[in-house]
Amino acid sequence: MPIRIHPSILAADFLHLGDELARVADADLVHVDVMDNHFVPNLSFGMPVVERLVAGSPLPLDVHLMIEDPARWAPGYAEAGAYSVTFHAEAAGRPADVARSIRDRGARAGLAIKPGTDIEPYLEILPEVDMVLIMTVEPGFGGQSFLPETMPKLRQLRQAVDASGLDVWVQVDGGITADTVGIAAEAGANTFVAGSSVFTADNAAAQIALLRAQAAAHSHP
Ligand code: DX5
Ligand code: ZN
Repeated sequence: MPIRIHPSILAADFLHLGDELARVADADLVHVDVMDNHFVPNLSFGMPVVERLVAGSPLPLDVHLMIEDPARWAPGYAEAGAYSVTFHAEAAGRPADVARSIRDRGARAGLAIKPGTDIEPYLEILPEVDMVLIMTVEPGFGGQSFLPETMPKLRQLRQAVDASGLDVWVQVDGGITADTVGIAAEAGANTFVAGSSVFTADNAAAQIALLRAQAAAHSHP
């Protein structure tokens, strides 16, 4: 199973964002956390920053929308050129419609769920999405500790994805370090967001390689 590492620029030095992107160029996609101070109690960046990242990032963008009303806003991020646009199930009245609106604009569609949200009600829309994100911390802030209680849900998702035969990426986000990445890989994740563990490393490329190796050592064939 291919392993993907997506550094989250929430943990980057915003004054030197271009240099920070160059430090993580060995990764697969760059993870961009869009927060609106309503869906989560924090505010980060929005469309103007994403447009500049699309123009200048060496890696394609994995945009994670932690915002209310994704039906209104998600299509714009796909149109702006994000490779992948993920929205939260908890914020979407009709998640399948939002996913379709993202795919229609040429991006991959991702569905995210918070640690307290069950995956079961969303398994039926697997054919409509390209990725499911199981949050391994409460969304809103970087640097929190990985929540192992989310692992049963991750196993449930992995089983459903394998049974479906669909190529849906299984992503985790929050508290992913060299110590926790293997736990999530073992439970079925193949796509790993890592913010502080990558950007606080002196050698970000070596940290990405370490996360990749640890995930590969624990992932299923
Ligand atoms: C949290 C964000 C994460 C965050 C992860 O709400 O969705 O992407 O940047 O940061 P770390 O890896 O530091 O937990
Ligand atoms: Zn995120």
